[in-house]
Amino acid sequence: MQVEVRRGQIEHAEADAIVVNLFRGVSVPGGATGAVDAALGGAISAVIVAGDFEGRLGETLVLYTGGAIPAPRVVLVGLGGRDKFGLDEVRRASAAAAKQARKIGVEHLATIVHGSGVGGLDAAPAAQATVEGAELGLYEYTELKTSSGDGRHAGPSTLTIVEHDGDRLGEVRDGAEVGRATAAGAMLARDLGNKPANVATPTYLAGQAADIARRHGMRIEVWDRERIVGEGMGAFASVAAGAEEPPRFIILEHSPPGTEGSPPRVLVGKGITFDTGGISLKPGLRMGAMKFDMCGAAAVLGALETVGRLGLPLCVVGLIAATENMPDGSATRPGDVVRAMNGTTIEVLNTDAEGRLVLADALSYAQRLEPEPAAVVDLATLTGAILTTLGKKAAGLFANDDELAGRLDTAGQRTGEKLWRLPLWDDYAGMIKSDTADIKNTADVRPSPAGSVFAAKFLERFVDYPWAHLDIAGVAYKVTGVEYITAGGTGFGVRLLVEWLRGEAADRG
Ligand code: BES
Ligand code: MN
Ligand code: ZN
Repeated sequence: MQVEVRRGQIEHAEADAIVVNLFRGVSVPGGATGAVDAALGGAISAVIVAGDFEGRLGETLVLYTGGAIPAPRVVLVGLGGRDKFGLDEVRRASAAAAKQARKIGVEHLATIVHGSGVGGLDAAPAAQATVEGAELGLYEYTELKTSSGDGRHAGPSTLTIVEHDGDRLGEVRDGAEVGRATAAGAMLARDLGNKPANVATPTYLAGQAADIARRHGMRIEVWDRERIVGEGMGAFASVAAGAEEPPRFIILEHSPPGTEGSPPRVLVGKGITFDTGGISLKPGLRMGAMKFDMCGAAAVLGALETVGRLGLPLCVVGLIAATENMPDGSATRPGDVVRAMNGTTIEVLNTDAEGRLVLADALSYAQRLEPEPAAVVDLATLTGAILTTLGKKAAGLFANDDELAGRLDTAGQRTGEKLWRLPLWDDYAGMIKSDTADIKNTADVRPSPAGSVFAAKFLERFVDYPWAHLDIAGVAYKVTGVEYITAGGTGFGVRLLVEWLRGEAADRG
């Protein structure tokens, strides 16, 4: 979708439809909605009086203008109650309006910035959220369908943001640009998640990383199986042992002029392109969803795509451990002991707890970076237990640094990619002790008590820097009920990471 920003009055916009909004409980529309209402001789007020539109968040209604204004249609969208209004409501309302426009075949859609007038939000973030909502709400994964969905309309090809206030125009332009770049990263992550495992292999992910590097002048390094083994990544290699498909360790570095040699922010992604469980084979039911077990890696690549598009003045390093987890004659056996890159020996009691093994080596690698990372954030579809704990509404956050945890939490609130912090207390340290090796990768009872904490305590053994771990197993795919989240992969983490990194760039450089 093409996105443009223009100064003007929305009621004068030449488009196939214009979007205006309404809070719940408003009887006399104000602002841009009021201007459109006046131009239409009170058509919007009449709808409210008739009780046909309440202003519930995401509620939509199409009005026909009969030549009273240039646009033939008005899409009215509800913002919900004023007391619950914020940036995520902007994103949701914008998505609802864009989807309604798609339903009625609109090619050129014009919209106001939701929430920046009467809503009281700052213009730049409101414009950003308006663009993100429309782009992400219209996203569909269609590349493997040979017939384009019964000739269904793909959605508006142009979105014009109309801003009447000349003083706000610059902010709206900037915000819309950030929104476009951020949505592009999130959609890249969704695409990677949605691709089946026979397409999105570790080699394919490395190719995508190389494309990002080429587009934005980043440094890339890709290790093959031999190098992974040779560098001592015994935990990662043990997961890849049963896979015919070659594993890849991907290092992608964004360090624009002026940031070289500064402490990097490091993003680490779990890239299990398919998780069968290995010898500890998963049951067949819904195993197909395990193509999404690389959504942490997808989020890291998506975030770097956005960082590149924005030219963020910050050193950002992406690390991805990508492999399949397959059963085979050469696969790791339950009970095998392996050695991670930092020397820690691990008893692999369950080969289905493979994410923590590949992350162990990626996190160990981050310890070698010079200069030391300012912060490391890993993202992983790590435990079924986090779905039990938080459902599909928030990711689990674990951190050894309160300031980092706080900054990520704030970014989560602003982006709607919510995090909920769980403990890394010493009380849990005993869980991971092994009789045979330094640590074990799972409890020997099932279900493992505090399963997500167990995994986080395991990872903690491989870090010596400010670190946060995001368990995204619940939120990475198949989330319903949010207008801008579509079927399949959600791209969770991209908007969150970008928000956090933009804050880091602004505060510290
Ligand atoms: N990839 C899974 C976690 C997962 C589960 C992601 C459900 C998305 C949805 C992970 O590798 C795994 O299998 N974890 C096991 C760990 C257990 C063996 C300790 C789990 O959660 O059951
Ligand atoms: Mn597994
Ligand atoms: Zn897994």
